[in-house]
Amino acid sequence: MNKIEINDINELIRKQYPKALIEKLLNDVLVLSLKVKEDYPDYKEWYQTKQIPGIYDNTRNIIIAHIGNRLVGFISLKKTETEKKICTFYVEKTFQKNKIGTILVEKAVTYLEEEKPLITIPMNKMKEFKRISNRYDWKITDIKENLYRTGTPEVIVNGELKDTASYQELEKTYQKIYHIYKFKTLSNLIKVFLNKYGLEK
Ligand SMILES: CC(C)(COP(=O)(O)OP(=O)(O)OC[C@H]1O[C@@H](n2cnc3c(N)ncnc32)[C@H](O)[C@@H]1OP(=O)(O)O)[C@@H](O)C(=O)NCCC(=O)NCCS
Repeated sequence: MNKIEINDINELIRKQYPKALIEKLLNDVLVLSLKVKEDYPDYKEWYQTKQIPGIYDNTRNIIIAHIGNRLVGFISLKKTETEKKICTFYVEKTFQKNKIGTILVEKAVTYLEEEKPLITIPMNKMKEFKRISNRYDWKITDIKENLYRTGTPEVIVNGELKDTASYQELEKTYQKIYHIYKFKTLSNLIKVFLNKYGLEK
């Protein structure tokens, strides 16, 4: 694989890189993020009205991975007095499992000065995050069934733990909801198959 370069958009702005280049990079991130965020309502509006202004007022940042001109991954971050958060984290499918995600998280942890930032992960992507989250001992703190979109539960990681809950109980609840989610997904697939071949009752 050609050389992977990592850049921090806050830093590029500080170093007065041309405005047109910064705008291109921000647009490339939007295009790439729509691959994982297309079914999140109002994602594009959130990106344009919150994420981009936040980069210019230093409450947000995006660290990008690129090979030449091609953006292959990014991690977008929020850092304020009250919140240290990974907003979106994505490495393009064909470039996954090349340590790009590991490098982006390391950079994010350094920028946020926090090894356990808040992050919300769709349940069907938890497997892909497992090794990274184990490395930093990230913990599930809540599971929301219809947070952004119906169907796939969102797992809240490194949030505030409710007084009544423990990490062990949450892990058990996660496993239970995960099995129900897998069962529902499989039943839906079977229904689609039966419909397609006219085999439904
Ligand atoms: C999570 C993600 C960023 C990891 O990126 P990546 O570049 O593949 O990460 P790395 O190559 O650094 O791999 C990190 C570890 O995870 C493991 N891993 C990566 N993909 C995996 C997968 N699909 N299944 C199991 N393990 C996986 C790697 O083997 C590696 O383990 P190691 O450190 O013990 O060697 C990437 O899978 C992704 O973008 N997934 C979708 C994210 C998403 O849905 N984002 C939206 C919500 S924020």
